[in-house]
Amino acid sequence: MSEKIKALKAEISAATAKTQDELEAYRLKFISRKSVLGDLFADIKNIAPEDRKAFGQEVNEVKQLAEEKFKELIAGLESADTGNKSSAPVDLTLPPNINLGTVHPLTYVHNRIVEIFQKIGFNVADGPEIEDDFHNFTALNFPENHPAREMQDTFFIESNPDIALRTHTSSVQIRIMENQKPPFRALAPGRVFRNEAISARAHCFFHQVEGFFVDKNVGLVDLKQTLYYFAKELFGQDTKVRFRPSYFPFTEPSAEMDISCNICKGKGCNICKYSGWVEILGSGMIDPNVLENCGIDSEEYTGFAFGMGIERIAMLKFQVNDLRLYSENDVRFLNQFKHLS
Ligand code: DAH
Repeated sequence: MSEKIKALKAEISAATAKTQDELEAYRLKFISRKSVLGDLFADIKNIAPEDRKAFGQEVNEVKQLAEEKFKELIAGLESADTGNKSSAPVDLTLPPNINLGTVHPLTYVHNRIVEIFQKIGFNVADGPEIEDDFHNFTALNFPENHPAREMQDTFFIESNPDIALRTHTSSVQIRIMENQKPPFRALAPGRVFRNEAISARAHCFFHQVEGFFVDKNVGLVDLKQTLYYFAKELFGQDTKVRFRPSYFPFTEPSAEMDISCNICKGKGCNICKYSGWVEILGSGMIDPNVLENCGIDSEEYTGFAFGMGIERIAMLKFQVNDLRLYSENDVRFLNQFKHLS
């Protein structure tokens, strides 16, 4: 007899019910009045009186097991049901709700700058982010131990101090000029690195766009006209431009270019520090030494160059006042640029 009970227990434990019909089949077999358990209870009277108590206990155990299992099966079916319900009403005629990414504000500004210069014949060039001393400094007329290097501290490799992360995209000027023949009209966007403590106003990496133009008879007038055109295309035709004398080792003369503050329209605000002007780039006529360092005859060719920070331009365009936001990948920040896509 106890063999029969064991087999029943095993059958109950293994029972499943994926549909209401299967649940009903289980109920009929193990719970209802006509269930196999009913038969077992009917058997009690045939058991020897001294064994009846033990047998009765065993049958009660099976009954309990069957009832517990029944509750389990009901619960299982109910949760499967609600799962179905939540995904059931799909309206296939609705447009898909795809959460597309956004154009990163730096990508947007990068693309705009490239677009504007491509219209006047500039090609896009690329150069390595891991540079050597010659291309990043020496060829650009930063003599070794010159204080100008101080302003552009970067990350070096201890075992080979000749290799460093480039501090500016001006190095691409050298790479192109030493390998190709003039005339050049090139734009070199890319990532650059500085050994700076990270704050709202400085970061250990950021992006620049370098531009340069080398040909016969290129003069300051070409530089100014090109950059006037650029500023007006990017910030609007009513933008005013001014040049201030400056110093860069690789240009002579050198100038920084300001635009009239596009936020307060020149009236004065905290972005332009109440001056009405904001600086957007450095520029100048390429120093003859730089041309000669690349094997270009500086008597025959002249050129101008300029360099600007993409983050800085983006900051002025979108009034973002913390540089760190650009690389933190916070969707709450990025979603604010959905309109650019
Ligand atoms: N390389 C300079 C910097 O990182 C920016 C720059 C200034 C580039 C003047 C130029 C230039 O080509 O003519 O600060």
